[in-house]
Amino acid sequence: MTAQELRQKYLDFFKSKGHTIIPSASLVPRETDTSTLFTTAGMHPLVPYLLGEEHPGGKKVANVQKCVRTGDIDDVGDNRHLTFFEMMGNWSFGDYFKKEAIEWSFEFLTGKEWLGLDPNRLYVTTFKGENGIPRDETAVQVWLETFAKAGMNVAVAGEDEIVRDNVRIIPLGTDDNFWIAGATGPCGGDTEMFYDTRPEEGKLEGKFGDLVDSFRLIEIWNDVFMEFNKTEDGQYEKLAKPNVDTGMGVERTLAVLNGKENVFETELFQPLFRKIEELSKLEYGDKSDVEYIKDDKQCWVDVRKQFRIVADHVKASVFMLADGVTPLNVGRGYVLRRIIRRAVRYGKLLGIEKNFTKEIAEVVIEMHKDFYTELEENKKIIFEELEKEENKFKKTLNDGLKQVDKFINYIEQQKANNAEVDYIKAGWLTFDLYQTYGFPLELIFEELDSRNIDCNKSAIGKGFADELIRHQDLSRTASAGAFKGGLQGTGEMETKYHTATHLLLAALRQIIGAETYQKGSNITAERMRFDFNYPEKMTPELLKQVEDLVNEKIQQNLPVELQEMSKDEALKLAKVSFDPAKYGDMVKVYSIGDFSTELCGGPHVQNLSELGHFKITKEEASSSGVRRIKAILE
Ligand code: ALA
Repeated sequence: MTAQELRQKYLDFFKSKGHTIIPSASLVPRETDTSTLFTTAGMHPLVPYLLGEEHPGGKKVANVQKCVRTGDIDDVGDNRHLTFFEMMGNWSFGDYFKKEAIEWSFEFLTGKEWLGLDPNRLYVTTFKGENGIPRDETAVQVWLETFAKAGMNVAVAGEDEIVRDNVRIIPLGTDDNFWIAGATGPCGGDTEMFYDTRPEEGKLEGKFGDLVDSFRLIEIWNDVFMEFNKTEDGQYEKLAKPNVDTGMGVERTLAVLNGKENVFETELFQPLFRKIEELSKLEYGDKSDVEYIKDDKQCWVDVRKQFRIVADHVKASVFMLADGVTPLNVGRGYVLRRIIRRAVRYGKLLGIEKNFTKEIAEVVIEMHKDFYTELEENKKIIFEELEKEENKFKKTLNDGLKQVDKFINYIEQQKANNAEVDYIKAGWLTFDLYQTYGFPLELIFEELDSRNIDCNKSAIGKGFADELIRHQDLSRTASAGAFKGGLQGTGEMETKYHTATHLLLAALRQIIGAETYQKGSNITAERMRFDFNYPEKMTPELLKQVEDLVNEKIQQNLPVELQEMSKDEALKLAKVSFDPAKYGDMVKVYSIGDFSTELCGGPHVQNLSELGHFKITKEEASSSGVRRIKAILE
């Protein structure tokens, strides 16, 4: 069966049971939902309806939903984990409940005209009751009857959770069989369906959890019976009307249907591997653990895992980009940036020298464009963004890798000398790798792993996080300060840099365009940093022109003049990008000749002669469409 046949069968089945078929929602959750960065399950976009709002499609809907889960990113490449996956789901908003949901699941799984799976290979779990919520006797009863109708006399496992004889129903606790999307929201006990993937190994017997861990049993469907809403204070409120929320993974079900060992062996990944084979000249199947020697050290690459990571990450990136996410240093955009960069890094380890993400993306789009029409529609932007991010990362990749080597040498040396690793220093170094070279922390860890270096990752991670928070606090304080129109420090140097910031903005407006605005500013006694809108890297020529213009003004010894006036008057004189409502009625306006006029709290130098020589030390991206200049006065 192909993926498309599977999707279509699912939708046809639930249509025949009176469901309205709805499209997949975006991977980007609706604006009011800040609970997760991405849509993580089919129910996620439907939360308002699960809480009682009326759905335009009625009380029964079904779809195939695009999902992204990045919590398990380090596990991608094993047999089960994917960053992007498709979830088929059917929902009852206060309509049918346990009986129909279970009967329909069984019919779809085993019906000859549907999936035609063997009921003798099917095992199910139910909620055994915990934390004051009672055991789900109804689900057990419905399963017993459903199996009986198929001529199967089945039994329920005891507390020992052992599968033996005719046991097929295994009641488990909250960790396994109670479902909630995040910390709060609609939730309830569930029943999960598992398939025996290796019946040739003989009769299934043993503790249920062990059978799952050995991949003999694989979960294919989850029916959640939502009876509660978990509130902020941890209470389970009974919902006015109970709902059904189900989820069935397209990739896993396809693997099971076609007797494939895991999701990567299905037609959803094989064409991507063929492309990576062509690009890398390596083979997916038979060459795992290729060894290579670097600086006299033995390193290894698990080729098959890296193929999987590259394919999964590029695929996820394509779908994210199609839904309007772009690579950034924060939030959703940072997740995207990380997975593109991880793909690029692994592509390089596979020996792919040229840019390749776009070529794999082409295959992804070709494979999925009929069902997900947004892919073809956004093809151009997908290719452009991938290309841009790949270029950006590759530019710093080699320098970054040298720094990673230095970092690793430091760790190794400390270990060789039996000396303590200074984890604060390690945190600082990894943060610099992230900040300057765009190396996500997990990539640094993976470099350590590939060289078999054992160290305290959680301590390094903590050092990194501390540094990150310190850094974020600094920039938050600075932008809060900018809004209040006040300066954080009023030391002499800082005052000078504040004036230089006005000069820089005015010079940028002359050289790169009048519609240039401040997007951020941060000043210390040592340097100034200024963020502004501009779509691409500034050329050295442009930077030189800006620098020269600032110095020219400084050399004219212009006075800096302060006037207080009404906001309305001031807004006629100065261009601002801030919401004018943030300003009081009377404002301060600082002018430097006819070169610069800005609303600002000051303070500033009185005359430009105090500034000395202005020098740009760095120009870099700050976020998408925003550039950052660092400069000093010497
Ligand atoms: N919301 C349930 C899940 O994701 C169906 O497993």
